Amino acid sequence: MAFDIDMIKKVYANFGSRVEAARKVVGRPLTLSEKILYAHLWDGDPKTAFKRGADYVDFAPDRVAMQDATAQMALLQFMQAGRPQVAVPSTVHCDHLITAKEGAAIDLPHARTESAEVFDFLSSVSNKYGIGFWRPGAGIIHQVVLENYAFPGGMMIGTDSHTVNAGGLGMVAIGVGGADACDVMAGLPWELKFPKLIGVKLTGKLNGWTAAKDVILKVAGILTVKGGTGAIVEYFGDGATSMSCTGKGTICNMGAEIGATTSTFGYDESMERYLRATNRNEVADEANKIAAYLTGDPEVYADPENYFDQVIEIDLDTLEPYLNGPFTPDLATPVSQMKTEAEKNGWPLKVEWGLIGSCTNSSYEDLSRAASIANQAIAKGLVTKAEFGINPGSEQVRYTADRDGYLKTFEDLNATIFTNACGPCIGMWDRTGAEKAEKNTIVHSFNRNFAKRADGNPNTYAFVASPEMVAAIAISGNLGFNPLTDTLTNDKGEQVKLDPPTGYELPTKGFAVEDAGFQAPAADGSKVQVLVSPTSHRLQLLDPFAPWEGTDLKGLKLLIKAKGKCTTDHISMAGPWLKFRGHLDNISNNMLIGAVNYFNDKTDTVKNELTGEYGPVPATQRDYKAAGLGSIVVGDENYGEGSSREHAAMEPRHLGVRAVLVKSFARIHETNLKKQGMLGLTFADKDDYDKILEDDTIDILGLTEFAPDKPLTLVLHHADGTTEQFPVNHSYNAQQIDWFKAGGALNIIRAEAAA
Ligand code: F3S
Repeated sequence: MAFDIDMIKKVYANFGSRVEAARKVVGRPLTLSEKILYAHLWDGDPKTAFKRGADYVDFAPDRVAMQDATAQMALLQFMQAGRPQVAVPSTVHCDHLITAKEGAAIDLPHARTESAEVFDFLSSVSNKYGIGFWRPGAGIIHQVVLENYAFPGGMMIGTDSHTVNAGGLGMVAIGVGGADACDVMAGLPWELKFPKLIGVKLTGKLNGWTAAKDVILKVAGILTVKGGTGAIVEYFGDGATSMSCTGKGTICNMGAEIGATTSTFGYDESMERYLRATNRNEVADEANKIAAYLTGDPEVYADPENYFDQVIEIDLDTLEPYLNGPFTPDLATPVSQMKTEAEKNGWPLKVEWGLIGSCTNSSYEDLSRAASIANQAIAKGLVTKAEFGINPGSEQVRYTADRDGYLKTFEDLNATIFTNACGPCIGMWDRTGAEKAEKNTIVHSFNRNFAKRADGNPNTYAFVASPEMVAAIAISGNLGFNPLTDTLTNDKGEQVKLDPPTGYELPTKGFAVEDAGFQAPAADGSKVQVLVSPTSHRLQLLDPFAPWEGTDLKGLKLLIKAKGKCTTDHISMAGPWLKFRGHLDNISNNMLIGAVNYFNDKTDTVKNELTGEYGPVPATQRDYKAAGLGSIVVGDENYGEGSSREHAAMEPRHLGVRAVLVKSFARIHETNLKKQGMLGLTFADKDDYDKILEDDTIDILGLTEFAPDKPLTLVLHHADGTTEQFPVNHSYNAQQIDWFKAGGALNIIRAEAAA
């Protein structure tokens, strides 16, 4: 599982000179984000300054990380790329396909059997192509990456939107689709629009009940789920250096919830402590040699307004703990106001479950602080009113927390210790009674709380908080409980108050683990056979998509006009569908089933223009495909927000949707559509969304002259015989237009490998 010190030394060898060159071309001091970006240009030394938010730039990431659900499609695609080995260090982590139900001792063996063919495929394909493989139970990808691979000043991509977690160790780490990962593993440059920069100045010091999580809950409340779009969020100030490395990871992790490209922190002593505690003295020693380059220039932090596109300041001394939700992570309510807000909005006050874990908050420090609350509850004679579930972030964290007594403390409170895996965070939670769809409240330390996300029940009101706050609220069983001021009644009928949490940034006796769950790849993978059964329901080798036919697209049916929020969960639902992530045809049966149809406010019920009947979205689209008809999907703002899953782009592509036209896109999803050879378009005038009627037939004109910055034209043929037309925008550059014409980026890579 060794981190690649030679690769890190190579990155650092050029880092200083590239930063100096960048300072020259940019002509001013640099932020940390700029230093990392300019140090990772595909073309080497910086020669020109890039325009933020405008220029597409080719980068050379240092690493790739993939989780089991997205790795399947990424690696099925990589197999089509014609390369013998991955070009950069890469890892696969089995964490998404493990259902939480009874606890790790039962759930993990069950998952190993249930998903054996997927794990065997991932193990064999990793072995063949030189990829490190982390077995089921080894931990959640981002915790494992932080513990083993992240390094200050590095750049990585990962097939999961919370790859950004590695910003806690000073990286620029970005969530991408499997197609991007495939490119980088194939040795190709990775393209990104040079991000804008948001600076967050942290002053003061976390204290009392306030945790790192509250910083990002507060930031999410300020910036909303769209506020970070196209930007890197860079944290600095004495408040930043005063918090732990894993706390920084928590903050960066939830940068995904504000749509940020990524978030990062400058290298500091907390990172050095974390590197040394996780057996990476060599990395710390190397980072120390170029420490001044691994943080923003002092002039930048002294006068941030001059260097960032937006600056936010948060005083940790006065920051309150927050609860964000329900149904969206940016609805931030200070804990002190939650009772009033819940009563006002009809949010159920009774809390049914408290869940601690997810890649956001499953570190040793998180568990130790939550355990300090659990310990007090036991000592003060309190009984947990809600049920309690814990997912440790990695086997190393679990083993160490077990050794240090924290897991026993939770168990003494009747908590269930689930597998070191995503579990309820990704809907892999077999929650008893969820099928009754009763209105209920849960609190968790995860990052996302979209409807149905945790247990599939649309009436579960999920609130996001720090692990210690989740522990306190679960113990009280009351969403309106404010541990800073309120008391609880114990088993003797006395009123007791919980003291603020205490914990350890790092284990005082050091981390320990017996079997971390890592499998190194074969030295020579050429003889290794990749295991895919032709009769599998879970895995399917890919066929290339057809190239563009060379004409305008005419006679498209409107598949759905989606109303309001349409995340990748709405487009390609997780939960039970995760098992089909390696089988494009089977998983396509979930396409857009969560999207709300504008014309009837229902999900998965659209008008089939061939029959006039209403039916499920995937079946309707299969009818259009069988009839040789293309279709179009129309959407609202920030379409495709949420995760990096390229299935949300591949499914419509596979089923014959030709274009997605929306008011605005989430970045990763827009890129994924382009990679798959789809047309991703935006309304030039957002009010034109209202012109699209249910029975319209639609043409897209201008494709024979498809060019960067040149709008296309949409023609609506209404059922009453009238027509309307208006311009639609796109953000395709010349290369992306080539992808469209070739039928997808992979078709170009394969042709180049064969040449
Ligand atoms: Fe897993 Fe949830 Fe993180 S699904 S990777 S724990 S966001």
